[in-house]
Amino acid sequence: MEKMDKTNLICFCNAVTAGDIWEAIDTKNLKSTGEVMGATYAAGLCGSCLDKVDSVTKDYLARRKSH
Ligand code: FES
Repeated sequence: MEKMDKTNLICFCNAVTAGDIWEAIDTKNLKSTGEVMGATYAAGLCGSCLDKVDSVTKDYLARRKSH
């Protein structure tokens, strides 16, 4: 996966950036894409960003686990 910038817009409908997802994971100790969706409203409208939300979430969780 290419390097994500925190300003990278992941969900257009709800204006959720990669940074918003990372921050939600860190501050709320989220463990799954479903929890990220609930906390940030990402993928809550048209749903077309679901794959991106899922990969940003899983990528970040995997990175956190490795250190
Ligand atoms: S782009 Fe995320 S719900 Fe539409």
